[in-house]
Amino acid sequence: MAHTHDGIDWTSRLAPMRRADAVEAEVNSWVADRLVDPLPDGATIIDVGSGSGGMSAAFATALSVRGGGRIVLVDAVPELLSAARSAVGDAVGDNVEVVAVLADAASPGLSDLVPAADLVWASRVLHHLPDERLGVSGLVRMLRPGGWLALAEGGLSTRCLPWDVGVGEPGLQDRLVAAQTAWYAGMRAGIEGSVRMPYGWNLALTEAGLLEVGAFSFLLDLPAPASEAVRSSVADWLAWMARGELSELDREAVSRLLDPVGSDFVGLRDDVFLLSATTVHLGRRSVAV
Ligand SMILES: C[S@@+](CC[C@H](N)C(=O)[O-])C[C@H]1O[C@@H](n2cnc3c(N)ncnc32)[C@H](O)[C@@H]1O
Repeated sequence: MAHTHDGIDWTSRLAPMRRADAVEAEVNSWVADRLVDPLPDGATIIDVGSGSGGMSAAFATALSVRGGGRIVLVDAVPELLSAARSAVGDAVGDNVEVVAVLADAASPGLSDLVPAADLVWASRVLHHLPDERLGVSGLVRMLRPGGWLALAEGGLSTRCLPWDVGVGEPGLQDRLVAAQTAWYAGMRAGIEGSVRMPYGWNLALTEAGLLEVGAFSFLLDLPAPASEAVRSSVADWLAWMARGELSELDREAVSRLLDPVGSDFVGLRDDVFLLSATTVHLGRRSVAV
């Protein structure tokens, strides 16, 4: 039975994840083109933890313009898997085969459920597994000889508010990020069977036997004054960050910023923006396996 390990209600995240896909579409397309470029014709790409499918759709589009291929979606949450399938279906025509697999990415048998891949993409999912190193090994087993693993993990946390929003005390954004860091440590510690990975992803990829290990980072840079879609994503970010432990004053400030009928509503501000960096860690399976 597919399930997640992190205690997060992912189904309730579907709407904000879809909104994030919309504002990230352009940069997702750039990343997809870059990763698809070295792949052979008719490539198979597996998107593990595909979420609402924004990146899966970008990969499918990149495959489609090259003549076609196959995209395999893997997620442990049925509602998200079906959303990702729809997102890909809306993006491409018949020359890209779409396969959806409901599975736990931590399952040791995952590679038996999917075809061998030229590229495995896993964005912001491995850190939700009990043992991230075992998770990497499982993804490596899904690769064809010469296939690439690309993990989007880490980077620089989102900035979207001015230092002083005029509600509560200045510096709210930094305190939200600090609270989120503490929440994250608790989330990791609360996963049953949680194992620490006391080093960086490049070493995990090397340890898993991959070659040509490296990384690149990309920016999401949507400056103020922002579109309605970006403002909505800023509100989503605030709501998500507020699950950490905050002072009464900060909690009150966040609820005023999130009140859609109040005068402090963040969606009314002309000074909000989205700026973040994501790192993609890459490694290649030996051709000689
Ligand atoms: C933070 S979201 C990332 C979504 C997308 N990859 C992105 O970067 O926007 C994590 C996704 O991984 C899925 N997920 C969490 N734990 C999982 C597990 N053990 N196996 C498979 N999918 C999992 C969630 O359902 C969700 O779709």
